[in-house]
This record gives sequence, C-alpha cells and structure tokens, in this order.
Amino acid sequence: MNKLQKLVEENVFYLIILTLFTLSIAMFVEILPLMFSKSVTKPIDGVKPYSSLQLAGRDIYIREGCYACHSQMIRPFRSETERYGHFSVAGESVYDRPFQWGSKRTGPDLARVGGRYSDEWHRTHLMNPRDVVPESNMPAFAFLAARPVDAEMMPKKMTALRQLGDPYTDADIANAAKAVEGKTEMDALIAYLQGLGLVLKNKR
Ligand code: HEC
Repeated sequence: MNKLQKLVEENVFYLIILTLFTLSIAMFVEILPLMFSKSVTKPIDGVKPYSSLQLAGRDIYIREGCYACHSQMIRPFRSETERYGHFSVAGESVYDRPFQWGSKRTGPDLARVGGRYSDEWHRTHLMNPRDVVPESNMPAFAFLAARPVDAEMMPKKMTALRQLGDPYTDADIANAAKAVEGKTEMDALIAYLQGLGLVLKNKR
C-alpha cells in the first residue's frame, strides 16, 4: 500500500476531504454546465409565464398533491410519445418553480393534457371522477368549486416570481387580483390544466 492510500484510508478526516473533492468534480462536470446552458434556462418559443388564474391553479395543484398521482414528464420513448405526444423538454418548465415532473403515475401523465378535454369535462371529472371514468380511483375535488381564489395573494406571488426572473410586466401585476375576481379554485385549476403542454402539443 503506498503512503497516500494509507493516509486516506486510516484517517477519516482525509477520507472525507478526498470524497468531497471527488464529488465536486462530478458537480463541475455535470451540474455547472447546465446552469449556463440555454436549452435549460431559456423558455422554448411560445412558452409564457402563467397568467394570474393559471398561477393560482398551479398552486392548488401543488396544495392538493395532484403530483403524488400524476407526472408531468413525457419521456423520449415511443410508448410514451404515442400516448401523450411530444416528449417533455426542459425549456417548457422554466417558469415552473418548483417543476412538477413528478415520479408517480397512478393516473396518466398530464404534461400535455391542455386542450385534450373541454372545461366542462374537467369540471365534471373533478367534481366526481367516476361520473366520466367509472373505474377511476382518483379522489373527488368537488370542494374546490365552493372556494374562491385568494385574489389578494396573486400580485404578491407574481412579484416574487418576477424577482426570480419571470418576465411579468407592471401591468400584469396590477391586474393580477382583478383577473381572478369571482373565480373559484376549480376555475383556476382547470385554467392551469388547459394550458399544460400546448406549445409542443401537435409536434411528434
Ligand atoms: C390517488 C391518485 C390521484 C390523485 C391524488 C389525483 N388523481 Fe387525477 N387521476 C388519477 C387516475 C387513476 C386517473 C385516471 C382515471 C380518471 O380519468 O379518472 C386520473 C385522471 C386525471 C385526469 C385525466 C387525464 C387524462 O389524460 O385522461 C386529470 C386531468 C386529472 N386526473 C387531474 C388531477 C388533478 C388536477 C388532481 C389534483 C387536484 C388529481 N388529478 C389528483 C389519480 C389521481
């Protein structure tokens, strides 16, 4: 055994330092370049930040844990693209903080569900999934139809997102509360779902 190896294997301090050093090489090679890669940090053509109503819907999607049963990540395999459409690309989720790729598919992937059904279908489905899909085990979310969107929060959320780089204008923020006035959480969630994945929808 040479001297250096002996030192590292017998002294836990050196072992930790060397381990961290080795891991940091992986970080430099794999993670750092991604932070500067346009394909990951820039939205693809046509992807816009969420409207006020969609943004409210996205937060309800997260609050209700929809991600626990639904992914939003179509993998580049034929079995996936035949069913759901064009595979997901990073430039589609630059305005998703945090992204909703998910990893569990009790229900289908939702990355391109926008426009697949009418608003009315979603309403019926969310009120009671079994009314449209008899064998469904998705829980009902009827209570969302009775809850108004918290309009006051929307300008604050948009301001926070703007600080992170989302290109909201002053006008967007000024109108954010008005845009959700009188809307229920159900309306917001449906607006969010209907906007998902439209940009690459008809591409294969
Ligand atoms: C316990 C698991 C579970 C949870 C939680 C859940 N779902 Fe589902 N979802 C399913 C299953 C299973 C299906 C397939 C059967 C059906 O259409 O109801 C489905 C279907 C769907 C569909 C139709 C997709 C398609 O392409 O046909 C939409 C849209 C949907 N869910 C939205 C939601 C939203 C929004 C939430 C959160 C408010 C949610 N789901 C929560 C299990 C779940």
